[in-house]
Amino acid sequence: MSAHSEIAPFIVPGYNEVVIADNLIAATGREFCDTQEQTADAFSNKWSRFDYEADGFERRVQRQKAWYLKLYGFESEAGLKEYLSGCRFILDAGAGLGYKAAWFAELCPDAIVVAADISASVVNASKQYRHLPNLLFLRCDIGNLDMFADDVFDYVSCDQVIQHTADPHATFRELVRVTKPRRDASVYVYRKKALPRELLDEYFRDACKQYSHEELMELSRQITELGKVLSAVDQEVEIPDIPAFGIEGGKMTVQRFLYWNFMKCFWNEELGEENSLMTNYDWYSPSQAFRYSEEEFRGWIEEAGMDIVHFHKEKACYSGRFKKVE
Ligand SMILES: C[S@@+](CC[C@H](N)C(=O)[O-])C[C@H]1O[C@@H](n2cnc3c(N)ncnc32)[C@H](O)[C@@H]1O
Repeated sequence: MSAHSEIAPFIVPGYNEVVIADNLIAATGREFCDTQEQTADAFSNKWSRFDYEADGFERRVQRQKAWYLKLYGFESEAGLKEYLSGCRFILDAGAGLGYKAAWFAELCPDAIVVAADISASVVNASKQYRHLPNLLFLRCDIGNLDMFADDVFDYVSCDQVIQHTADPHATFRELVRVTKPRRDASVYVYRKKALPRELLDEYFRDACKQYSHEELMELSRQITELGKVLSAVDQEVEIPDIPAFGIEGGKMTVQRFLYWNFMKCFWNEELGEENSLMTNYDWYSPSQAFRYSEEEFRGWIEEAGMDIVHFHKEKACYSGRFKKVE
């Protein structure tokens, strides 16, 4: 049986915007709000620069996979494989280049994996991973999964995505709706930072709508250069706590101080120029990139009545795996 025919019964009857071609499903004819349109374009532009064969891509994938296990509480890849072996349908909500969806599909050949994303990335990804018969790509807004009935997926993964949707809390409810009872959804949100950085980021979300793709790339180039120059100074300084601004003190380099509290200016020598540049572009180009406090994120989980299987925090994010109770 093909992946299409297995998933078809779970697509709401009469859903007539769906075109299935090979391993790509396109939900067309949707109207998005301006910010969602801008965010989709920003990511389409970003992903169109990526070459699956390029130097550094495999390194990025390996780093991301290792981080994924940490973010969602899997001890190892073997632990994830074992967990997924109980799944029939898996949703990678906001799949980007598709390598995590492909990872799930390879680890769990008996499941059908749906890799959904609002950007044009799904077109290239569907070609890249055509050899995986259990992996389907879907271009859609994960804030509106009305093509799927309730309680369809045995595992929903939404890694580094929900903050880019028009209403992340509503998207969270939508992801829970399509998750089967007693099954898990893994979700990541950006964490609120110190006040000066929040002010710059918030102001720039609006301003970035006026910039072209080329201008945003140029800005990202300049910011990457700043990150690189500052990272060359490895001397650490003792920063005092400034609680009124949300600034946590401690010993750190000037780049880290500026990065966490005033302005994201990413640089990682190991990842190199292009990946550092794209990390900065990733931050400054989408007009939708909401940030949350731990209380706000925990509030969503509580409101949805989910059990916390795993909760993880880092300076940049909160994430976890949550079980839908009924
Ligand atoms: C930072 S990337 C993460 C991609 C992937 N999950 C990963 O970990 O590599 C965010 C992705 O979310 C997608 N995205 C943003 N808003 C979306 C929406 N409303 N519906 C579906 N995908 C969305 C973007 O197109 C982009 O591919």
